[in-house]
Amino acid sequence: MNKTIIVSNRLPLQIKLNNDKLEVVPSVGGLATGLKSVHADGNGIWIGWSGLTEEELDDNLKSLVKQAVKKEKCEAVSLTQDDIDNYYLGFSNKTLWPLFHYFMEYTEFEHEQWQAYKRVNEKFAEVVLEHIEDGDTVWVHDYQLLLLPKLIKDKKPNTSIGFFLHIPFPSYEIFRTFPWREEVLDGMLGADLLGFHTYDYERHFLSSVKRIMRLEVNFNEISMADRTIKVDSFPMGIDYNKFHNAALAHLNQDESQKSELQKRLDDHIQSDADTKLVLSIDRMDYTKGIPNRIRAFEYFLNKYPEFKEKVRLIMLAVPSRSDVPQYKKLKRETDELVGRINGQFATVSWTPIWYYYRSMPFENLIDLYTSSQVALITPIRDGMNLVAKEYIATRTNGHGVLVLSEMAGASKEMNEALLINPNNFEQIADTLKIALEMPEAEQSRRLHILQKRLKRYSVEKWADEFMSSLNSTKKYRETSITRALDTNVSAKMVSDFENAQKNLLLLDYDGTLVGFTNNPQDASPDEDLIALLLKLNSLPNTDLVLISGRDRETFERWLSDYDFNLITDHGVWLKSKNKDWKMLEQVKTQWMENILPILETFVDRTPGTFIERKKYSLAWHYRKADPELAQIRTMELNTVLTSLISNNDLSVLEGNKVIEIKGSNVNKGRATSRLITAKQYDNIVAIGDDWTDEFTFEALPEKSYTIKVGSKKTKANYYIKDTNAVRELLVKFVKN
Ligand code: ADP
Ligand code: G6P
Repeated sequence: MNKTIIVSNRLPLQIKLNNDKLEVVPSVGGLATGLKSVHADGNGIWIGWSGLTEEELDDNLKSLVKQAVKKEKCEAVSLTQDDIDNYYLGFSNKTLWPLFHYFMEYTEFEHEQWQAYKRVNEKFAEVVLEHIEDGDTVWVHDYQLLLLPKLIKDKKPNTSIGFFLHIPFPSYEIFRTFPWREEVLDGMLGADLLGFHTYDYERHFLSSVKRIMRLEVNFNEISMADRTIKVDSFPMGIDYNKFHNAALAHLNQDESQKSELQKRLDDHIQSDADTKLVLSIDRMDYTKGIPNRIRAFEYFLNKYPEFKEKVRLIMLAVPSRSDVPQYKKLKRETDELVGRINGQFATVSWTPIWYYYRSMPFENLIDLYTSSQVALITPIRDGMNLVAKEYIATRTNGHGVLVLSEMAGASKEMNEALLINPNNFEQIADTLKIALEMPEAEQSRRLHILQKRLKRYSVEKWADEFMSSLNSTKKYRETSITRALDTNVSAKMVSDFENAQKNLLLLDYDGTLVGFTNNPQDASPDEDLIALLLKLNSLPNTDLVLISGRDRETFERWLSDYDFNLITDHGVWLKSKNKDWKMLEQVKTQWMENILPILETFVDRTPGTFIERKKYSLAWHYRKADPELAQIRTMELNTVLTSLISNNDLSVLEGNKVIEIKGSNVNKGRATSRLITAKQYDNIVAIGDDWTDEFTFEALPEKSYTIKVGSKKTKANYYIKDTNAVRELLVKFVKN
């Protein structure tokens, strides 16, 4: 039976050593808590780090760890102390975490840590590859494993691979500062589906892919040479019923069942009819805005002194990454702030902040959630923030107000919360007052809407949607696999080619025989290509024709020493072997004087673009322009041209990063039709890469071998990866 393999740095359970005894504790953090229920339901395995290093384990302990994780349907990746120092505490948490959360000033770029990151991603790949069977699906998680999708794809191209990023993807302006930006994007692009919590992160990612990798992006699909990758946003939910039911059970607790913590909370609540608890729960992380929150609370008490002795902030900060200096500093700062504010405001019967720096069992989290009238969640940046959602799920009595930072991914779907900017103390203080004084009917109205959505879009639903979207990418792959020029098809093609009485071999030039250059005039044929073409040209049973949008002048300059069949200008001119150039179509050129000034205005307003003036057409090239600006400008240009082309009998062709305007009676298809009616061919092979070649494919009989370079939609029968693969195929035609 096919299985799903979840891979993340941390397993849902962590193993600790306590006096040489193993202790198994649940992991904290959104990823582990969120995916736990998904894993529990399925028949898959979860691969990740156990929490202990190789150095801490002798053989006996190693096998105990193995057993302990196996029991939970997990597999451990073995990491050394050096891996933890450089990959986990280092590159993951001193480079990627701060950079992706816009904390540039905390971000370190260390080559040694990058090396460790690569090495550990490979270790993960090894373990995954040991467990993959045909038909399995792999779901990789988070920023610690950005290189893993490609490492798996390279070895197992037919496996469905999903990747989900649980933290923000930063804007291009931030991401471009990262020294290993290409490698990291390349690693992520090994996946078939890439998921983000919000559309903003998705948009930032696509922008970097376009600008840095220069790949083509259509809506949410990225075209690679031989694959299409889907990108989408899936806001992660929580196990709603688990929290909701726990809160309901909590309501019915009798005194003897209450925890010590609950009793303390009750004491405060019962001390006065007006008392209220304000709650915050986070990992102790600088992205969570903990000092800001404390300062804003101080500001609130000063601005609205009537709340003194009535309102208490309960802050649970769970220890996290405490070996990273920035986290140590944050802990010190938090301790000092809490001390100072409690010292300043405390009375005999009231301390404004109760601060816990520790992990708590689930039951205590429920105590906190259900006892607090307000949750104050104020991250400076947060990929999602599940605590906000958990708080809402536990408000079973219809009361409770969520004050939430608009910098948390969760804010995008929680409009009924009171949203604040975590840097605006005035706003936080005023909003906290509104929250504390909100009429119950209003609280209940807002809660109802939020709860309905959280219940519907639970973590199970989130995982199901991701998985079904990943499954649907299989369809693409299957089509490209069935139409890929695999060894069987190319062997048959070569033998048909050899055995034919007369072959017609139609080859496009740019993007098919040579790659693209920034300046079209730099793409002259190299020696190897000329040698290959000469051999093909001398085959007695073959007519080789180069069919291109290039102008006659350029081909004359590059190829006049050789006697090739050439079709230029998209089909205006034909040069047959041993013959002179012949004009196939009568074309007008007066229109150019009207269109040229329009194109010039586009060049002026779009840096990096230029016009190529050909004899019969005008081409506006935008390969070097900013891809997003170019996308807007191409739409604008198309609109402007639409009204002009019908009056002038023109057509607009969208090539590879170029828009070309030419007479509408000219295209490669018409030229192709002339060739095949003039002579009898019993075998035809046509290869091309862009939109203009679709005319060629369409004009040919069904049984021809029509081949598209790249992975874009096409009328051709087969796909081939790139210009190198085209040349390798052509070499086979002349081998014997
Ligand atoms: P992050 O992923 O940055 O840690 P989230 O708010 O998305 O932040 O997720 C935190 C998760 O950790 C929540 O599911 C929360 O219930 C859980 N959690 C927080 N504190 C504790 C704790 N003391 N013990 C166990 N789980 C905790
Ligand atoms: C966030 C990250 C997770 C990480 C968790 C806890 O939720 O997105 O990948 O596991 O924090 O952090 P830690 O470093 O303890 O694994």
